[in-house]
Amino acid sequence: MVRLFIAGTGHVGLVYAVAFALDGHRVVGADIDAGTVAAVNRGEVPFHEPGLPEALKKARRTKRARFSTDIAESAKAAEVIFLCVGTPSRPDGSVDLSQVSAAAKTVGEGMGSAPGYQVVVVKSTVLPGTTQGVVRPALEKASGKDAGPDFGLCVNPEFLREGSALEDALRPDRLVIGAMDERSAKALLKVYARTKCKRMVTALRTAEMIKYATNAFLATKVSFANELANLCDAFGSLNVDEVVEGMGLDPRINPRFLKAGLGFGGSCFPKDVRALLAGGRERGYESRVLRAVLELNDYQPMRAVELAAEAAGPLEGKEVAILGLSFKGGSDDVRESRAIPLAKVLLERGAAVRGFDPEANEAFRRAVPEVEIAPDVKTALARADVCIVHNDWPQWRDLTAADFAEMRRKVVIDGRRILNRAALEGIEFVTLGG
Ligand code: UDX
Repeated sequence: MVRLFIAGTGHVGLVYAVAFALDGHRVVGADIDAGTVAAVNRGEVPFHEPGLPEALKKARRTKRARFSTDIAESAKAAEVIFLCVGTPSRPDGSVDLSQVSAAAKTVGEGMGSAPGYQVVVVKSTVLPGTTQGVVRPALEKASGKDAGPDFGLCVNPEFLREGSALEDALRPDRLVIGAMDERSAKALLKVYARTKCKRMVTALRTAEMIKYATNAFLATKVSFANELANLCDAFGSLNVDEVVEGMGLDPRINPRFLKAGLGFGGSCFPKDVRALLAGGRERGYESRVLRAVLELNDYQPMRAVELAAEAAGPLEGKEVAILGLSFKGGSDDVRESRAIPLAKVLLERGAAVRGFDPEANEAFRRAVPEVEIAPDVKTALARADVCIVHNDWPQWRDLTAADFAEMRRKVVIDGRRILNRAALEGIEFVTLGG
């Protein structure tokens, strides 16, 4: 059992607080947002994450997890401290480190009066050099202690996918640990003593880069699949899923993350690719690959608009229904959802836009208030001239021609290649990527 403190109880921090408590550690999670802390202390999870509410209740029953708003005091009592705060994009794509700096300062203040050696672990996604150049001095200044003899420093990126985040935290397939010295690494490895998976211990900067490289590569795979889908359409009579299946027969190519769609969204891929591109640029290197990955991701929702206009004619005055508003099926998160630019362009073209999502309706209403939110699929589709399927909720697979019966004109653009075409007789059906 290790005494842990988690600074930041957002999606990542809360998942880890619960997972570490279930692993047998004694965990305190803290956040400056009093509302979040109060909700979590009532056993409520403020976002959609399957299994997490039950796991949180279990962790609280065992009395191994508690939550507070007092970051400094909580940091004082811990052996290992995780920084799990956000690193959002600034308008120019570069990383906004204000939450990291503020958390490091408050944690440092608590560490100042801690009796023994502590290790601070950066789980937030930060560019190479940030832990050494920003976090370390903030901790040293606030605590009056020296990194090395008095406290240790690690970087331990998370690879949690929304929707399976708890499972990813409890049973990761790898651990990447950047450490300033052996003592820091040893203390962090103790936290993961019961975790069975591959582990790599490396320098702080390398671990920071591994996180960006991983997300940038996966985002590149998705953009590549999307490019292939568009090329399949250009050649005609080609099905991108079959092409990808064939590519996947080559053992050097892993077929995962090659599912074509209307672009990637979410809290990580767009932000991390932008940050790596901007970070390179600041240092005098322009990444052509990353620039192209983002360029295609911006274009991809427009592709659905083009397909819709090709099939249904000019969109001015038309009613368009978007099925799926969150950035991916299984999530209520609309951050960087490609449904946002999709809806905005449709509105700009003069269409009336209605949307429906099983979980993300309210969040999307706040993101694009001009879109009418429908309470169910049937209401979204009634009188529509065009339907665009944006994300990959599994229930879209069960839709049949009857669900589309009340459309005025039955033009359906399957942006996620998810509908069951055998059940869609009588529909003008257009699939991105054949
Ligand atoms: C991602 C990473 O997977 C995770 O390791 C990291 O820590 C955080 O970012 P997440 O944002 O939850 O997780 O979503 P993910 O499932 O990776 O999907 C990202 C986006 O790519 C979604 O918009 C998704 O729809 C899209 N995608 C993914 C595709 O379009 N095709 C694919 O084959 C896979």
